Amino acid sequence: MNQSDNASVVRRELHGRVLLVTIDHPPVNALSADVRAGLAAAMDAAAGDDQVGAVVIVGHGKNFIAGADIREFGKPPREPFLPEVCRRIESSVKPVVAAIAGAALGGGLEIALSAHYRIALKGAKLGLPEVALGLLPGSGGTQRLPRLVGAKLALDLMLSGRHMGVDAALDAGLIDRVGDSADASAAGLAYANELLASGAPVRPTRDAQGLADRAAAQGAIDEARKTAAKARGLLSLGRIVDAAQAALDLPFEQGMARERELFLECLASPQRAGLVHAFFAERESAKVPEARVAQPRPFASIAVIGGGTMGAGIAVAVLDAGLPVIMIERDDESIARGRQNVEKVYDGLIKKGRLTPERKAEILARYTGSTRYDDIRDVDLVIEAVFEEMGVKKGVFAELDRVCKPGAVIATNTSYLDIDEIANSITRPQDVIGLHFFSPANIMKLLEIVVPAKVAPDVVATAFALAGKLRKVPVRAKVCDGFIGNRILAVYRQSADYMMEDGASPYQIDKALRDFGFAMGPFQVSDLAGGDIGWATRKRRAATRDPNARYVQIADRICERGWFGQKTGRGYYLYPEGSRTGQPDPEVQAIIDAERKRAGVTPRSFTDEEIVRRYMAAMINEGANVVNEGIALRPLDVDVTFVHGYGFPRWRGGPMKYADSVGLDKVLADIREFAKEDALFWKPSPLLEKLVAEGKDFDSLNRAQ
Ligand code: 3HC
Ligand code: NAI
Repeated sequence: MNQSDNASVVRRELHGRVLLVTIDHPPVNALSADVRAGLAAAMDAAAGDDQVGAVVIVGHGKNFIAGADIREFGKPPREPFLPEVCRRIESSVKPVVAAIAGAALGGGLEIALSAHYRIALKGAKLGLPEVALGLLPGSGGTQRLPRLVGAKLALDLMLSGRHMGVDAALDAGLIDRVGDSADASAAGLAYANELLASGAPVRPTRDAQGLADRAAAQGAIDEARKTAAKARGLLSLGRIVDAAQAALDLPFEQGMARERELFLECLASPQRAGLVHAFFAERESAKVPEARVAQPRPFASIAVIGGGTMGAGIAVAVLDAGLPVIMIERDDESIARGRQNVEKVYDGLIKKGRLTPERKAEILARYTGSTRYDDIRDVDLVIEAVFEEMGVKKGVFAELDRVCKPGAVIATNTSYLDIDEIANSITRPQDVIGLHFFSPANIMKLLEIVVPAKVAPDVVATAFALAGKLRKVPVRAKVCDGFIGNRILAVYRQSADYMMEDGASPYQIDKALRDFGFAMGPFQVSDLAGGDIGWATRKRRAATRDPNARYVQIADRICERGWFGQKTGRGYYLYPEGSRTGQPDPEVQAIIDAERKRAGVTPRSFTDEEIVRRYMAAMINEGANVVNEGIALRPLDVDVTFVHGYGFPRWRGGPMKYADSVGLDKVLADIREFAKEDALFWKPSPLLEKLVAEGKDFDSLNRAQ
């Protein structure tokens, strides 16, 4: 009975008495309708064939099954549905073994949970990451996993979405065995033959006793409910806890029905649409024209110039990726400080119990500091992170031009400076690129890859490969003042200043935006980053500022008092005794009142809704300009930038996805309305106007690529 089903995505081969069912659906064996149908047919075939004594389910290639086919969400559902396929597997009267290599995630783990026995190879990762897509496990995961491993661990896995390795899975009883073969089919067949030889029975997970201690299970559910309530905004967290409660309270089939209801509720929610958009956008943003045509250059050794806030963070990111780093600083004192900055990160981890001193020593063995540029003659790639001054940067680049080997990639971490000008100041502009990390550089996921006019395609490809190695989310940007993120930030930040002068307090604005889902409001961000940074930029730009543009001076008045935020104990907020949570400051309110008077503004009240509408309109409009000018390749690149660099709620997908969900016509109507107050600031983006005229959304541009 060697045969195939559904365009070969599920193959069946009889090996002695064991039916080997292989899912072969690249790239990750997602459970498309064809795969589901193939699995159902395989279970029917096994049931109807006396020769078959046991079944092994395995994934072809690197992974077992990565879960439901995410591309099918939001489309009309096609039978057979996954819960039904799982039911057929579990109710097989012949033992079914899941043989797992690579990812068994989401629906993939649910298939494995429906099998009677599980064997996994080293390196396999098991998990229920549905929460990251705004969902809950919808094919029995919420009912079977707690029964198998208990409510506490099941809830931990479902609420965090984390992946579990084989050793932990074995300890927890999630798998029965770790296979020592490199081949999942061979391991699965050997295990199945052993089970047959010993007369092992079928063992449905629905009958497992992990919830037998009802009090313990209820305690775990109550704890989880508290954790879920703390996370702002995400619907699926609470629904996961509801489903676990159903597992405890209801017979299996009724629990399954409850899970289905909750799953469908999450599936229909805009949060799911936003999170699925984010999932694909994060992968799409790495697909850029240069990566298609050029091979990356090697980057086995890396130099970082400057060991301040960013240089040290970048060095840690590189070290964490397993690569060696040499840091160049100005003098011995700065070298020592740079090293301290790096060590501080690892010492923090040791304090939290997340790193051993031995491991720190191993990592730092790959780290060197030097004042001599000649020491970096052989490195493949250099990242400059010195002071944000053109003269200083050009001085450093001249040195790099002198010493770097031919073909070395030379990157700058500048936030705002003209990278074309930096590139053109040396003899090899083709090797120069922007690598704009975000602070803290070892933690923040975003990496803006800024592409100057003369850069060689393989240098761009190298930057994207480096991002992969550093586990960053890369976004391609072109050179302009602020690139994608900081350029858009400058505009919506201004809209917040206008609202503050017009009558909203910074505290109300921050709260409205936190309630919208931002990690922090703009005034909290300013206090965290340090008000002096923005102040220096404003002073630098004072001479070139349009005299007709509205300019709010409140921030300057605050900075003039030396109130730079958390580091000085006060900014927009008060931070008594080093506290990191600010309190509203009546003196700041008095400064705001005085500034309103000076500017002749009669304060009015704002609803939270209006605050969000204005802030988002400013962000979306500038986002459209950035796409229109080709600074960002696609709207999704703006989305990824904001989700991973600016604390934008991932479950809203990003500002451009949010705009699509609101309706571009509504956003444009708002902007036109606001323009009646200030036509210079609220100038509708030509792209927004064009899309509205054509009845299209931003996503149409993502799809067109
Ligand atoms: N459905 C459809 N496509 C998927 C997919 C899925 N579940 N998982 C990954 N892909 C696609 C990616 O979009 C990418 O496509 P591309 O090459 O066209 O860009 C390709 O597979 C490779 O993915 P990655 O680049 O992420 O490859 P990696 O090797 O880095 O990672 C992975 C592999 C760990 C499996 C990772 O892709 C992953 O985490 N996938 C998502 C897993 C997931 O969330 N599963 C739950 C789905 S929801 C569910 O199962 C509901 C159920 O309970 C009913
Ligand atoms: P920083 O002031 O903390 O560090 C700069 C370091 O460069 C100092 O240690 C200094 O000794 C060193 N340095 C100066 N001149 C040097 C030279 N000629 N040779 C070798 N080392 C030299 O500054 P920070 O914040 O780390 O910023 C560095 C760069 O990163 C700037 O271009 C900045 O715009 C950019 N950036 C900063 C971000 C932030 O949040 N701080 C975020 C993203 C980019």
